[in-house]
Amino acid sequence: MISAKIQKALNEQINKELYSAYLYLSMAAYFQDTGLEGFSRWMRLQADEEREHALKIFDYVFDRGGTVKLAAIEAPAARWSSPLAVFKEVFKHETFVTKSINTLVDLAVGERDHATSSFLKWFVDEQVEEEASAGTIVNRLEMAEKAPGAMLMLDRALGARGDK
Ligand SMILES: [Fe+2]
Ligand SMILES: [Fe+2]
Repeated sequence: MISAKIQKALNEQINKELYSAYLYLSMAAYFQDTGLEGFSRWMRLQADEEREHALKIFDYVFDRGGTVKLAAIEAPAARWSSPLAVFKEVFKHETFVTKSINTLVDLAVGERDHATSSFLKWFVDEQVEEEASAGTIVNRLEMAEKAPGAMLMLDRALGARGDK
C-alpha cells in the first residue's frame, strides 16, 4: 500500500505526463499548420509516449492498492515563433519534468518506499533520453538556421521516427 502522500504525488505526476502529451499534440498541430509534416509526426509520437508514461503510473498506483483521481489538464500554448522556439520549449519542459521526477524519488526515499523508488528508476533513465533528444534537435535547428534547405532535410529525418 502506498502512503496518501505518495499517492497524491503520483497522481500529480500523471497530470504532468498528460499535460506533456497535450503540449506535444499542440506542437504537432502547429507543425501541421506550417507544413512541416515530419516534425508533426515526431511530435504526435512524442505525445503518444507521454500518454503511455501517464498510464504506467496509473497502473502502478492501482498495483500498490492506491487509487487515481484525474484533475483538469491545463491548456497548452498553440503558437510558436519558429521550430527552434518549439524545441527550446520542449527542452525546458523536459527539464521541468526531470525535476518533478527527482522530487518524487526524494519523497519515496524519504518514506523508505523502496517499491516506488524502484518503479521511478525507469522514469529517471527516460528523462536522460528525453533531455538528450530534445537537446540534439535544438542544436540541429540552430545549425539549420544558417543553411537553406536544412530545415526540409530535418523535417524528413524527424518524419522517419517510428519507421522500421
Ligand atoms: Fe514523460
Ligand atoms: Fe517527456
